[in-house]
Amino acid sequence: MNLPARVTFCEVGTRDGFQIEPEFIATQDKIAVVDLLSEAGVPRIEVTSFVSPKAIPQLRDAAEVMAAIRRRPGTRYAALVPNDKGASRAVDAGVDAIHTVLSASESHNLANVNMTVAESLAKLRGVMEIASRARVPVQAGISTSFGCPFEGDVPLARLEWVVRELVDMGARAIGVADTTGMANPRQVARTLEHLMPRFPGVEWTLHTHDTRAMAIPNVLAAMELGVTNFDASIGGLGGCPFAPGASGNVCSEDLVHCLHAMGIETGIDLDRLVAVSRRVQEIVGRALPGQIVKAGKSDRRYPLPDGVAARIPQPSARE
Ligand code: COA
Ligand code: ZN
Repeated sequence: MNLPARVTFCEVGTRDGFQIEPEFIATQDKIAVVDLLSEAGVPRIEVTSFVSPKAIPQLRDAAEVMAAIRRRPGTRYAALVPNDKGASRAVDAGVDAIHTVLSASESHNLANVNMTVAESLAKLRGVMEIASRARVPVQAGISTSFGCPFEGDVPLARLEWVVRELVDMGARAIGVADTTGMANPRQVARTLEHLMPRFPGVEWTLHTHDTRAMAIPNVLAAMELGVTNFDASIGGLGGCPFAPGASGNVCSEDLVHCLHAMGIETGIDLDRLVAVSRRVQEIVGRALPGQIVKAGKSDRRYPLPDGVAARIPQPSARE
């Protein structure tokens, strides 16, 4: 396999995850989780979103969270915004980066942000202006890039058109999102092989959901094409309230474990990340989908069953 030596993680659990929790997560708990993620060395955190509190009441405390987190030098603290109002609130809150949201498919965009794609693009132009005046970098995310829960297939030409619009308005970083886990590795490869040479200089991020257990294979497919930025969610939290059937993102600690096992650097302290995941399980009050929290890392060893130790042939006896 031809894989990069290092990848950059963006933790999205406190946004993509906490936004869909049935119970409001206390502001103090949100802050604590962000701080623990920072201490684990996570380089990018999508802390929250500045959206309508009617649409996402779970993140109505976005400004308070941003104001109270302890900022670790070296971590980039971002927030998701759908429109100019969100961009102004995010800039006022002192975000290091703005992550915008729109969908490649019309139906999901209407369900999620109550705008047609053209209306969203017009709003995002305003977002880009606010961000550029404030010198805040923008990463433009595209939901339903690999399929829409309402419409099914999203033609590649359609996705390319949306990317082109975003790049033309100044986006230098693009996130392609598999909102409801419909993508497969060949499709991810085909899509990126098509887009990457057409938009040289763009920094690509893959945002995956593990709805159908294809998230890590999809990440690997993107890595083989040279993508080095990935969103992931602590414990495998996550899901869009406006996308039926959506479930958690690829689990951060599982993905970091997989990459570290292959010798790929992330800069993240995996043991600390696993501890954060345990803390998040306590906060949400249930077990999360992540596997490593249950199984331990692959270097975990167990005591031998009774009587087995004495019967293991010694190396000298075998030679
Ligand atoms: N932050 C806070 N409030 C906002 C806002 C923002 N970014 N954008 C709009 N609002 C407020 C308006 O001020 C208005 O408030 P009022 O009713 O008190 O006057 C209200 O929301 C409605 O504004 P409007 O522009 O008509 O928006 P809408 O009702 O058509 O909703 C969005 C559009 C984009 C604001 C809304 O659908 C939204 O926030 N969606 C986010 C969905 C999301 O986060 N999904 C998960 C991520 S994939
Ligand atoms: Zn998502």
